[in-house]
Amino acid sequence: MTTAAAETTVVRYEPRGAAHEVFKARDSELVIAGPAGTGKSLACLWRVHLCALNNPGTRYLIVRKTAVSLGSTTLVTYEEKVAKAALASGIVTWFGGSTREAPGYRYSNGSKINVGGLDKPEKIMSAEYDIVFADEATELTIDDWEAIGTRLRNGMLAWQQQIAACNPSYPKHWIKQRCDQGGARMLISRHRDNPAYMNADGTPTAKGVDYFKKLDALTGVRRLRLRDGKWAAAEGQIFEAWDEGIHLVDEITPGPGWSRWGAVDFGYTNPFVYQDWWEDGDGRLYLNHEVYFTRRLVEDHAERIRTLLYHDNGQPRGQLPRGIYADHDAEDRATLERKLGLSTKPAHKSVSDGIQAVQSRLKVQPDGRPRLFIRRGALVERDPELEAASLPMGTAEEITGYVWAVKPGNKGGLKEEPLKENDHGCDAMRYMCAARDLVGRTRVRWL
Ligand SMILES: Nc1ncnc2c1ncn2[C@@H]1O[C@H](COP(=O)(O)OP(=O)(O)OP(=O)(O)O)[C@@H](O)[C@H]1O
Ligand SMILES: [Mg+2]
Repeated sequence: MTTAAAETTVVRYEPRGAAHEVFKARDSELVIAGPAGTGKSLACLWRVHLCALNNPGTRYLIVRKTAVSLGSTTLVTYEEKVAKAALASGIVTWFGGSTREAPGYRYSNGSKINVGGLDKPEKIMSAEYDIVFADEATELTIDDWEAIGTRLRNGMLAWQQQIAACNPSYPKHWIKQRCDQGGARMLISRHRDNPAYMNADGTPTAKGVDYFKKLDALTGVRRLRLRDGKWAAAEGQIFEAWDEGIHLVDEITPGPGWSRWGAVDFGYTNPFVYQDWWEDGDGRLYLNHEVYFTRRLVEDHAERIRTLLYHDNGQPRGQLPRGIYADHDAEDRATLERKLGLSTKPAHKSVSDGIQAVQSRLKVQPDGRPRLFIRRGALVERDPELEAASLPMGTAEEITGYVWAVKPGNKGGLKEEPLKENDHGCDAMRYMCAARDLVGRTRVRWL
């Protein structure tokens, strides 16, 4: 497929396999699913871009669950790999948004692409569209997806369509079920569809060799989903009660009677984790911000944490943490304390009761709510190394792969200890729950 963006510019894109199907399908609900790096996002973005170019006055929406993640991933691909020439030549321009209109890309033929996150739905959901593309759509709820469907009323294109791209998630995910039940059509995207990573004869390109090495290094359920493309559930998931629809929230508004806490798991090759927790008047915990980053010194992490806790002029942002519970590394703790001007407390490290404390907080209580939540946008900064390696970026992404270790010879499946892998945020979360529920007070249990 070729577009002449300016007389001298020719942009080439050759979609293969499922990516090619994206350009032919007119199903009102279309899903392109597959392992990491098969070209799903690129195909959908090209589909939207070419429709916008070829059909004057048509309207599109590119959406993710959160606006922040859209800007750091999907839109980068759109600007670098899809619309680069059109942006350079002025055929497409960026519009920063107004009080009434969502930001997005404006085409010289009158077509418009709005962009946004479903965490801030007002402007994007007040307009009408011909095609909506939701990237990483497993993050969406079914309500999000159905709400998007109601916006497909522009009627300027011969068909209206909502398109989702995603990696496989757990087998009972609503997207998978919707496709299985015929409500949406699923295209299966494979690595052989991506010419950047695989030659037509099925051998990997030089770039592909590098990329597949990273996928080969994955383990557990992440490997099954991101390398093998399977809708798989983790065997022996420790926090079985975890449900993104229940435990992830869009916003937290600490008020009177709330307390702030911190939890730290040190790491350098593995991520360093700092969790900024709030506790409401009823004792529910909310993870509001999270530093989750590799290969930085503690003093550099401390700088980031300082910006969470203090304004530029040194005044605290609201309340300072009442306690910060940290891993036991004496030197790292001393550095952190010196840089933050705050003391830390040694975390309660014993694993089994700490896990139970988290588990009981995750249970939904008679009031309909659990006792622990994570804010969707909690991650302060994405670590490009973790992203390139398809590793979890933040505690919420660890949880579905946080599993019990199966010891050789243990056929009874006794749950003894967690597999020590991608557990850094889960450890910090455990310290936090242990500090509130197990240490120095009568043990509180919600049954
Ligand atoms: N047909 C193609 N021609 C050239 N490059 C491609 C093609 N398809 C994909 N790529 C390149 O391969 C890389 C991965 O593509 P993309 O980001 O679209 O994959 P994805 O399936 O959305 O990955 P993820 O599962 O991580 O979201 C990008 O650098 C992209 O530009
Ligand atoms: Mg993608």
